[in-house]
Amino acid sequence: MPSASLIWLPVSQLKILIPRDQIAQRVAAMGADITRDFMGQTVMFVGVLKGAAIFLSDLTRHVELDSTFDFIGVSSYGNRPSPAQELASGWDSTGEVRLTKDVDQSMKDRNVILVEDILDTGLTLSYLKKILLAHQPKALRIATLLDKPSRRKQPIEAEYVGFKIPDEFVVGYGLDYAEKYRNLPDICVVPRAG
Ligand code: IMP
Ligand code: MG
Repeated sequence: MPSASLIWLPVSQLKILIPRDQIAQRVAAMGADITRDFMGQTVMFVGVLKGAAIFLSDLTRHVELDSTFDFIGVSSYGNRPSPAQELASGWDSTGEVRLTKDVDQSMKDRNVILVEDILDTGLTLSYLKKILLAHQPKALRIATLLDKPSRRKQPIEAEYVGFKIPDEFVVGYGLDYAEKYRNLPDICVVPRAG
């Protein structure tokens, strides 16, 4: 079971890493980059549930292109430890991902932008990228709000990166800790146990 002391850490005790105004500015710039790169074309945004939902809804409102959006759901295999242990020692999935929700629209010959909350070890996105490429999109790009390059185990990079951050466990703006804190408007650091 998750550690209650960490789960119920009051929001006031979380340190802000990236305040809301900086997020808004950066997300707007990313939307402008996508608009410029795909000028005259259509794009299909595919958000990874649930963490990318808030980022996707803000990002797409800054994209001035004919676009659609969709969501994909994933769940990792393996015995994931409690969030408290995960914070203390980190957790590495096998990278094998099970789809819990597939996209509703065809990706064939479409410009697909996979939208993720955070690129950590890269295992999840590497796996997802393989699955999406099998659908033969015209182009596949990755947009991630956050990137922790120091944790990478698979050599994968995103074409659009909001912020590179150090190896901290962060929550807010869609990111969770045991499903909590997704609704925080700022990105905050959860202190590690111990
Ligand atoms: P990866 O396969 O290691 O790249 O894992 C990516 C997934 O792990 C993300 O989609 C998040 O759900 C989760 N994750 C990684 N780091 C954090 C974090 O600091 N806060 C919240 N979730 C995280
Ligand atoms: Mg998550």
